[in-house]
Amino acid sequence: MEISIEHLNKNYGKQNVLKDISLHIPIGMYGMLGENGAGKTTLMRILATLSEPTTGMVEINGIDIKRKKEIRKIIGYLPQEFSIYPNMTVYSALDYLGILTELPNNIRKRRINELLKQVNLEHEKNKRFKNLSGGMKRRFGIAQALLNDPKILIIDEPTAGLDPEERLRFYNLLSELAVERIILLSTHIASDIEATCSKAAVLSSGTVVFEGQIEKLLQLGNGKVYTTTILQNELNQFKQKYRVISIYQNGINVSCRFLSNAAPKKEWVSCQPTIEDSYMYLLSSFKQEVE
Ligand SMILES: Nc1ncnc2c1ncn2[C@@H]1O[C@H](COP(=O)(O)OP(=O)(O)O)[C@@H](O)[C@H]1O
Ligand SMILES: [Mg+2]
Repeated sequence: MEISIEHLNKNYGKQNVLKDISLHIPIGMYGMLGENGAGKTTLMRILATLSEPTTGMVEINGIDIKRKKEIRKIIGYLPQEFSIYPNMTVYSALDYLGILTELPNNIRKRRINELLKQVNLEHEKNKRFKNLSGGMKRRFGIAQALLNDPKILIIDEPTAGLDPEERLRFYNLLSELAVERIILLSTHIASDIEATCSKAAVLSSGTVVFEGQIEKLLQLGNGKVYTTTILQNELNQFKQKYRVISIYQNGINVSCRFLSNAAPKKEWVSCQPTIEDSYMYLLSSFKQEVE
């Protein structure tokens, strides 16, 4: 099982929003990390057959994505802006979507009850969609994407707006689902992919700037992250020179955590990078922001 993307380009008018993307996505959970506007949703909509490449080739399990009907049988998709009729109950909404998915009458009811159990919404089945919490709505979204038992699950920014507990529960659900499936998860939060994925790609302005194991991404910041203490009135100048990640005010002093390519100064303390640090370093080195 594999998603295979070769030299994919997507233009909107004159704007080239996906630039010569080549990726091979294997079974398991795969992260698609990038800032707002990087092109994540555009890529996911192409994989979900809702939008077409301008040039290039995409195959899922050897099937060209131009064969939309066949592709739609094997993929499930949770869009970034997912909603359904707010007054429908959880069960009736899934039933309705199941009819649209052409699930046969004799298996629909059983399938929906299985899914409600799997996403832990059994007790909410008679609640109206509009009365669900953010996390419940997202789990409903997963249930609807799983109606046709897809081999490939495409999920666009699912953790936005979730509180830490809902987020954790959502990660656990995805890990359970990743057995014998490809789950492609897009996010702008690096820690989301660290918690769930073994491999990831990073998109920046439509270009793949990283591809590979999460450990490799984590290591990009090795030897680039420091803390130091400076005077409050030196902060602006410091910020112009270095990419400051966080600051901590301490009277007239400020502790800064920052990125630098330069030879370390003796007042700098080297730090172990977090995934966010390494991701920031990667993005800023592409924009040539780091001194
Ligand atoms: N339907 C569209 N028409 C024109 N431009 C679009 C359309 N959809 C997205 N874009 C542009 O494509 C770029 C990538 O957007 P998007 O794929 O939504 O990024 P992301 O999901 O990473 O935030 C942005 O510059 C956005 O404005
Ligand atoms: Mg998006």
